[in-house]
Order: sequence, then structure tokens, then C-alpha cells
Amino acid sequence: MEQDSNRLMKEAAGKAAVDSMVKSGMKLGLGTGSTAIYAVRRVGELIEQGILRDICAFATSFQTEIECEKLGIPFYTLNSHQLSGGLDLTIDGADEIDPKNFVIKGGGGALLIEKLTAYASSSFAIVADESKLKEPLGMGFPVPVEVIPEARVQAARALEKLGVAEIILREALRKAGPVITEHGNLILDIRFNSPVDPEEMETELNKIPGVVENGFFTRNSPVVFIAHSNGTIETR
Ligand code: 5RP
Repeated sequence: MEQDSNRLMKEAAGKAAVDSMVKSGMKLGLGTGSTAIYAVRRVGELIEQGILRDICAFATSFQTEIECEKLGIPFYTLNSHQLSGGLDLTIDGADEIDPKNFVIKGGGGALLIEKLTAYASSSFAIVADESKLKEPLGMGFPVPVEVIPEARVQAARALEKLGVAEIILREALRKAGPVITEHGNLILDIRFNSPVDPEEMETELNKIPGVVENGFFTRNSPVVFIAHSNGTIETR
């Protein structure tokens, strides 16, 4: 069970981002994970209270879609005429955040759609508790690399050549075998044993044949809401 203090920090970060950035009429990307879910719930609450109106949301995963359904948040596909491939704002969680606000995402396996969403958004917000602040990226929490099933072994070899120290095929819980993503792909969780340049690595990883996307997010600088254990929210 998650500790109450951790849950409260996640809730505070999610709420702070929504309260300061979401406006009526927005096309809104809604992220995935145990922190982003609090932002989704806050949006639902404000819609129910009539404070937010005419929100057109996009859900980055089945988890988020199901939460939107429960809360009555109207959501659409990115290709719909309501969203037409663009969003005003996306709010999402992160696994690691460095001092430049570069992040690693994909702990929940939704990195492909999360990146599409983040990079389709005019503004991007990250919500997290203080445990996510790390430097350098990629040596603690693994960086997920989504690959098509046929590329599993070949991509792993190419990753080794790039200097990756550890490569683990992500295993499913309560199902034998690997995690299969929403798009039928596999995830290789990789770790470096010396610092890398996240901007360069985001580009290099995606050059490997069969790699669909990776968990470095460096190209749409987010506003980061960090909840601290003393009850404060740092925005940077
Ligand atoms: C899912 C993600 C999540 O946002 C990230 O893993 C953080 O999750 P949590 O808030 O549960 O720690 O990228 O793919």
C-alpha cells in the first residue's frame, strides 16, 4: 500500500497544476499514472461543479480513458475533429526530472502516446512528488524503449553498442510473459552506468530500427509542479 504522505503529495501536485493551468474550452491531454490520475480527478471535479466548461480531453492510456468515463470527462481521439491533432495543454506524471526539466516517462508503459500528446501540446505540465527529482537521468529509474516484437533481440544488440549497461524486457504482472503495450509492442527497460546527454539520447535511441519511441522527453519544456513533504508546491 502506498504511504499516505506520498499519496497526499501526488494529489497536491495534480490539483495545483489543474487549478493554475486548466481553463474552460481547452483541448486537454490527460496523462497516465498514480500522480496524473489526481489531475484527471480534479478536472472531473471542476467540470461537475460547473467551474470548467467545454473541455475536450484526450486520454493517454486505458487507465485514463476509464477514469474519464467514470468522471464524465468528454474525451476524443487525437484525430477527431474536436482535437484535430493538437492540444492546448497536457498534464502528465514523470519517473525522473532533472534540473533542466528534462524527464523520463513511461513507467506505466504509456510512453508512446504520452510523447505524441506532450509534443502535440502548446503547453506541457509535469506533476510529481519530490522523490522524482534526479540527476543525471537514466542511471536510476530505467528508461523505457518501446520496440516492435520482431525487433526485440536486434534492438537490444544496438542498445548495447550505444553504451547501455542493462537491458531488461519488461515483464507483465498477473500474466506470464512480457508487457504488451496498447499498440502491441514490447518494452525494453534500459539503464546507463555513466551519464548521458538526454537530448542526444532521445534522438539516438529512435534511430534504431524497430524502436518506436523512448522515454526521454526533452523537446517540449514542461512547467513542473513538485509537491514537497513539508506541504509546499514548487513550480519551476
Ligand atoms: C506512465 C508514466 C507515468 O506518468 C510515470 O510512470 C509516473 O507515474 P507515477 O505518477 O505513478 O509515479 O510515464 O507511462
